[in-house]
Amino acid sequence: MKTSLNKIMRSAQEKGMVIPAFNIAHLPMVEPIARTLKNTKTFCLIEVARPDIEKFGAKSFAAVAREYRKWTDPNFMRLHLDHVPVIDEDGKEVEWKKIIEEALALGYDSVMIDGSRLPLKENIAATREVVQIAHKKNVPVEAELGAVLGHEKGPLPPYEELFKTGKGFTRVDEAKKFVEETGVDWLSVAIGSIHGAISGAAKDKAKVEAKLNIDHLKKLKEITGVPLVLHGGSGINRLSVLEGIKNGITKINVGTEIRQAYEKGLDLGLKIEKIIRDYYGIEGSANTLCLLDG
Ligand code: 13P
Repeated sequence: MKTSLNKIMRSAQEKGMVIPAFNIAHLPMVEPIARTLKNTKTFCLIEVARPDIEKFGAKSFAAVAREYRKWTDPNFMRLHLDHVPVIDEDGKEVEWKKIIEEALALGYDSVMIDGSRLPLKENIAATREVVQIAHKKNVPVEAELGAVLGHEKGPLPPYEELFKTGKGFTRVDEAKKFVEETGVDWLSVAIGSIHGAISGAAKDKAKVEAKLNIDHLKKLKEITGVPLVLHGGSGINRLSVLEGIKNGITKINVGTEIRQAYEKGLDLGLKIEKIIRDYYGIEGSANTLCLLDG
């Protein structure tokens, strides 16, 4: 029998282990991730969010689920729906309930509702509604409180200033209320990490090296008791990550670094295409229609 994902997360939390979650920005990324997990006997989540579909090459939630099923092994992997925002990074309202229901029907093993751009009361209400829908199918729910910035268009305030002021950090008093009133299973917290950019030239650039406020994390761990999730996992200072895992981070989302690696590979393919098309000028030199029968 397949062990429930919530049980696996709780067990990781108790043992001080972390479960990585990799964003699929392009469908062929699933296979090498799955292969690495099996070869290293590591458990992780394969996840997809709206920007992976709308801004990159993940195509649809159904397409990712299909690709996942080609390579999955329940001993190593589960499928997670990442960030379903109530208000998205461009300030637009999203049909979040429809997306959550679609993912549940497609057999996603866990879902995330992101009401972090809403006032607390509305974030609680939306999260509670998703918890009610998902728990009927025994599917655990992740939510976000505080603001893990980076997906929005335009430049961020200087990172050091953000970190020093703790702007957008998850508030400890709100976290307690949020977890109690929503019944959410896992909580994404803002403690210093930022998401990699997803639009404009910045999407191809290296991220600023983020760090984590471990004292703040300790307080959130203490007050919430649920597995905590770190978003913006690419390019965080390694010591901070290790300290984070020791102090309550149970899931880390990683997107930008593996997407950029994949896209660099695509760039190499495009370079070859350019050489043979433009430099060797193959087009029309040996037109197949002239050479093949029929
Ligand atoms: P990065 O793209 O910064 O690794 O963040 C991924 C993430 O948090 C997806 O939810």
